[in-house]
Amino acid sequence: MKSCRLWPCTVGVVALVAAVCCSANPLPVRVPPNASLKERLESAKALLADSPLIDGHNDLPWNVRKFLHNKLHSFNLSDDLRNEKPWRKSIFSHTDLPRLKKGHVSAQFWSAYVPCESQFLNTVQLLLEQIDVIKRMLAAHTNVTTIVTTPAGIMEEFRRGRIASLMGVEGGHALGSSMGVVRALYDLGVRYITLTHKCHTPWAECSEINSTSPPANAKGLTPYGEVMIQELNRVGMIIDVSHTSRRTAKDVLRISKAPILLSHSAVRKYCDIERNVPDDILNKIVENRGIVMISFFNNFLTCTDNATLKDVVKHINHVRSMAGVDHVGIGAGYDGINRTPQGLEDVSKYPDLFAELLTDPTWSLQDLKKLAGLNFIRVFTEVEEVKHQLLNEKPSEEIIPIHDIDAHWHCRYKFASLDHDMS
Ligand SMILES: *[C@@H]1O[C@H](CO)[C@@H](O)[C@H](O)[C@H]1NC(C)=O
Ligand SMILES: *[C@@H]1O[C@H](CO)[C@@H](O)[C@H](O)[C@H]1NC(C)=O
Ligand SMILES: *[C@@H]1O[C@H](CO)[C@@H](O)[C@H](O)[C@H]1NC(C)=O
Ligand SMILES: *[C@@H]1O[C@H](CO)[C@@H](O)[C@H](O)[C@H]1NC(C)=O
Ligand SMILES: *[C@@H]1O[C@H](CO)[C@@H](O)[C@H](O)[C@H]1NC(C)=O
Repeated sequence: MKSCRLWPCTVGVVALVAAVCCSANPLPVRVPPNASLKERLESAKALLADSPLIDGHNDLPWNVRKFLHNKLHSFNLSDDLRNEKPWRKSIFSHTDLPRLKKGHVSAQFWSAYVPCESQFLNTVQLLLEQIDVIKRMLAAHTNVTTIVTTPAGIMEEFRRGRIASLMGVEGGHALGSSMGVVRALYDLGVRYITLTHKCHTPWAECSEINSTSPPANAKGLTPYGEVMIQELNRVGMIIDVSHTSRRTAKDVLRISKAPILLSHSAVRKYCDIERNVPDDILNKIVENRGIVMISFFNNFLTCTDNATLKDVVKHINHVRSMAGVDHVGIGAGYDGINRTPQGLEDVSKYPDLFAELLTDPTWSLQDLKKLAGLNFIRVFTEVEEVKHQLLNEKPSEEIIPIHDIDAHWHCRYKFASLDHDMS
């Protein structure tokens, strides 16, 4: 049944890519594995000029909040921020438009992140302010980047040699447990939601075993959380299970009709922490047709403060060997991490990763294109396909059960009872 729905859409992806790519640039050439670094870098850059590089997670917008309180008058994303205060002093700063161009990035997911500490407080407001600042920040640079909301939009920006900007929400605590908020976020242009950050929500368990927030009533997803997954499928929002517990990820994989995403995760094989993906989830990702986008955070890669580009390669290769080359991508997490691998210090370095992969004869050019972006384009296209299949479903009118948010009931507006209203 699955393959019936997926086949036309796979054809769609191929047609989409064929229609818009491969224009003026010389076709990339697969250099031999023993080619010099210079030759491999040239080959990598030609590859990324021919096919889009899409990164799943960048936390710059939260740094704009922390450093500038969202006041943009003294901020210019077209500057080399390595020379600008306060960015030049921050070990969390790895991103600006010139370096994204140098890194051949053609689509970037900007994270609309809000801290778990705001859960049950003004979290929805903080989230809307982050979406606002992302839009204002990018609006000053429409000569370089535009917000897009579709796979076709990514390919169109790529063809024009520009950067497609997309938005993801991190994490589910910022939804206020509300289906209405989910729909409004989609209308604002958000295209993925990370179900949890480092706290449990009232409907989903996170991977932080010592999270001090109120645990979900059930382990993994609650019944309300299951309805949430159906609603995310229905609206066409990509579901991201980076940061969730393994049990939540398993529940999502059981329920979701659409492929899911891990926007910035590493694998447990090389660093056995809850935050990383275990092998059984990698296996299930295949059936779900989802994607694991590999994080560049040293502490996730090696469980130590130190890592190199080669460690990122190991994580990528492990997803490839467990799930296959169709299910791996890149979600570095720049600007949200303070320790980056040697050789991948900032967003200008992605070609170096591809140059390293070219030393491995088992990586074909076509497979490298899948890793760079075509896998994500496929996932995004299939999520939209599921949305179209569900067009006749009604929007969910479920409300979070009171007993799931007992401890925080006092933070909510109290509606007068219906009887009272009518008397
Ligand atoms: C690369 O390997 C090929 C065959 O394995 C060999 O003919 C060639 O000389 C090598 N090139 C370099 C630069 O070492
Ligand atoms: C932003 O920085 C770029 C590059 O440094 C410069 O060309 C441009 O004039 C600046 N824009 C504004 C509005 O200051
Ligand atoms: C784009 O516009 C900004 C703002 O005016 C400017 O700083 C930047 O140099 C321009 N970039 C390009 C590539 O034209
Ligand atoms: C969680 O808490 C326990 C008990 O306090 C502690 O031993 C453990 O190291 C903590 N784990 C993490 C990942 O912080
Ligand atoms: C690991 O990284 C830290 C800085 O994060 C550095 O001080 C230390 O020398 C590094 N250790 C090794 C073995 O490279």
